[in-house]
Amino acid sequence: MLILDGKIASAAVKARLLEQTKALAEAGKRTPHLAAILVGNNGASETYVASKVKNCDETGFGSSLIRFNDDVTEAELLAKINELNADHSVDGILVQLPLPKHINDEKVIEAIHPDKDVDGFHPMNIGRMVQGFDTFIPATPYGVLLMLEHFNIETKGKHVVVIGRSNIVGRPMSILLSGERPQGNAHVTICHRHTPKQETIKMAQQADILIVAVGIPEFVTADMIKPGAVIIDVGITRVEDATAKKGFRIKGDVNYEQAITKASAVTPVPGGVGLMTIAGLLKNTMKAYEGKFYHV
Ligand code: GUN
Repeated sequence: MLILDGKIASAAVKARLLEQTKALAEAGKRTPHLAAILVGNNGASETYVASKVKNCDETGFGSSLIRFNDDVTEAELLAKINELNADHSVDGILVQLPLPKHINDEKVIEAIHPDKDVDGFHPMNIGRMVQGFDTFIPATPYGVLLMLEHFNIETKGKHVVVIGRSNIVGRPMSILLSGERPQGNAHVTICHRHTPKQETIKMAQQADILIVAVGIPEFVTADMIKPGAVIIDVGITRVEDATAKKGFRIKGDVNYEQAITKASAVTPVPGGVGLMTIAGLLKNTMKAYEGKFYHV
């Protein structure tokens, strides 16, 4: 059984990026810069954004964290995005989701200039991705592709079952893996909340590669796993636990203890896909930087 260790795979990606930023700095050039917008003080979002900023530091990227209270108006948020769009020292912009209910996610996503959309959520970039054009791939699916690449996991002709159809993970993941690309050419089935549970179980049992992104702790149990399957767990949920130091534990969408008895390879949570999401985001930020002609 192989543990698909996100620390190892993301360290390899980050080491290559660090080499690039060192070379830029030595040549007297500025390095890529990520601007992250965080609205409110959702604990999980705070942790994710802090980790993104820390990883920028570790790889020689610049970063800015722009915070708003959760009563910020949509107009104020859009004005800040426009300012960052026009700022030539900012290469990538991300707005951490979820946003408060009074703010329209779609408007915010569309306001980010597609050339700075390092989350790959803008409809123009999604359209490019669907057609196999060069673009920013959404960070989490990109991280999964980088993980599969790092551990040399073949996808061509394999039956991949994706559980979950969100715009940020399940749907782009299913499109990417079925596409003509190195980590692609798979036969993909997608299951979601309206798939009868018995059908999801039946599909999961046939998966050579099972990718789970539903946000339900330990949704996948041993009986759903084909012997020898590769299991990619995208779930990161805080579950209350009075015995834990912080009062909660992080749980994935897969029962890890059960999965390791049947699978050939499993991503741990934490320490798996979450770290690869950041690697994907950093690679997109470098891509945004390289796409520009006005480096100073
Ligand atoms: N919230 C959960 N995942 C993500 C992500 O990949 N990007 C952003 N911006 N917000 C998220």
